[in-house]
Amino acid sequence: MMNFCISVLFFAIFLFGYCAGVKQGDTCVANRNCDAGLHCETCLANGNVRPRCTRIQPINPLSKVKGLPFNRYTWLTTHNAFARLGARSATGSVILSPQNQQDSITDQLNNGVRGLMLDMYDFDNDIWLCHSFGGRCYNYTAFQPAINVLKEVQLFLEANPTEIVTIIIEDYVTSPNGLTKVFNASGLNKYWFPVSRMPKNGGQWPTVDDMVKQNQRLVVFTSKSSKESSEGIAYEWRYVVEKQYGNGGMVAGSCPNRAESPAMNVTSRSLVLMNYFQNNPDLATACRHNSAPLVSMMNTCYQAAGRRWPNFIAVDFYKRSDGGGAPDAVDMANGQLVCGCRNISSCKENMTFGACEAREASITPSAEVKNETSFGILDSRPIQLQWIFNVAFMAILSL
Ligand SMILES: *[C@@H]1O[C@H](CO)[C@@H](O)[C@H](O)[C@H]1NC(C)=O
Ligand SMILES: *[C@@H]1O[C@H](CO)[C@@H](O)[C@H](O)[C@H]1NC(C)=O
Ligand SMILES: *[C@@H]1O[C@H](CO)[C@@H](O)[C@H](O)[C@H]1NC(C)=O
Ligand SMILES: *[C@@H]1O[C@H](CO)[C@@H](O)[C@H](O)[C@H]1NC(C)=O
Ligand SMILES: *[C@@H]1O[C@H](CO)[C@@H](O)[C@H](O)[C@H]1NC(C)=O
Ligand SMILES: *[C@@H]1O[C@H](CO)[C@@H](O)[C@H](O)[C@H]1NC(C)=O
Repeated sequence: MMNFCISVLFFAIFLFGYCAGVKQGDTCVANRNCDAGLHCETCLANGNVRPRCTRIQPINPLSKVKGLPFNRYTWLTTHNAFARLGARSATGSVILSPQNQQDSITDQLNNGVRGLMLDMYDFDNDIWLCHSFGGRCYNYTAFQPAINVLKEVQLFLEANPTEIVTIIIEDYVTSPNGLTKVFNASGLNKYWFPVSRMPKNGGQWPTVDDMVKQNQRLVVFTSKSSKESSEGIAYEWRYVVEKQYGNGGMVAGSCPNRAESPAMNVTSRSLVLMNYFQNNPDLATACRHNSAPLVSMMNTCYQAAGRRWPNFIAVDFYKRSDGGGAPDAVDMANGQLVCGCRNISSCKENMTFGACEAREASITPSAEVKNETSFGILDSRPIQLQWIFNVAFMAILSL
């Protein structure tokens, strides 16, 4: 009897710990309880004290519809992608700079991040990623040599031959050909998308298929205009309108451009970049900002940008949200850009643009039916768990 009870107890603990198939919004204990593309966390800033499965991966739009121009897609973008929480400087020093993300570049790319904002400096006879001030890098603001991170991008592009990555450089490098040297050394120049192919007057970009076929799968922008002619690195604001960053860009209902960028509604720039992060990155409140306010800002920016959805959505702590977060915002923008639907999940290859309204409407009744039919299964999960607990409890009592 005793052995049987112990078995039941272990069985119950095992089931509780390893029950798979837990969806977004469901209560969880650890990341492994949640389905793929989700992780387990709270959002205290929004009053969510119970840990729930929240999204950390957008849907890859290329898995839905291929063949559109590059500017007809939206990419999840990480602000200061290299400034990882808890990182130690490769100089050995403690880092005093604020930190903006929770995981490595490789993990970000594997989660579907396709835009990386990197601050590059001359430092220690090399190019480094620093989160610094006054245009100079110090041991306590230096994260690591840029080549390390560029090599991570190179490995990702090599392993994923249909993926496209954009690097947006806040450029403090003044050493001659400094950026070219480090990109060359990383092996990334092989994937370089040439400036000559970027539309200059608001035209369509080449299609993603074409970029893949030509193996021009790395798009790079610099904040230094002179480098376009000297090194062939595109000056960002010749091709992109960019929303104000920091707190000044987080006022609900307004979507101002950053100073260096043309106004958001200037359509001679084919790409739209929407920043949405605070001056001081804050892990605790990022989950609130990355949720409903992010989507609301996206709607504001759509109007401000001349009815254009963002191509890059840049956030801090991209994994933090109270549910769908930045991945939801990216799915929504992709739905609109790719097929005129509210969610990229509704887009199909070759469908008529916007034909989803009827389809989404006609889906609704059947979706409700599906909810109803699957309700039994969904609702039975807590009951099953409760049953298991009861059995386990009884088992303990009878020991
Ligand atoms: C700064 O880092 C370099 C290595 O990058 C090291 O040689 C130097 O001693 C460090 N300086 C201080 C003050 O820690
Ligand atoms: C970078 O690589 C290209 C092509 O391999 C080469 O033509 C160029 O000279 C290199 N530039 C530097 C600064 O190393
Ligand atoms: C574009 O936006 C600016 C404000 O940034 C506004 O003054 C201007 O009227 C807008 N132009 C058009 C054509 O909407
Ligand atoms: C878009 O659809 C996917 C898959 O059905 C879903 O996980 C996601 O939450 C949806 N996003 C929004 C914003 O409704
Ligand atoms: C979409 O259209 C293209 C060109 O007409 C065709 O080659 C392709 O097979 C179509 N894809 C689907 C899924 O119908
Ligand atoms: C079914 O699910 C959809 C989307 O999650 C929701 O809007 C709808 O209210 C649900 N229907 C029922 C009957 O619960």
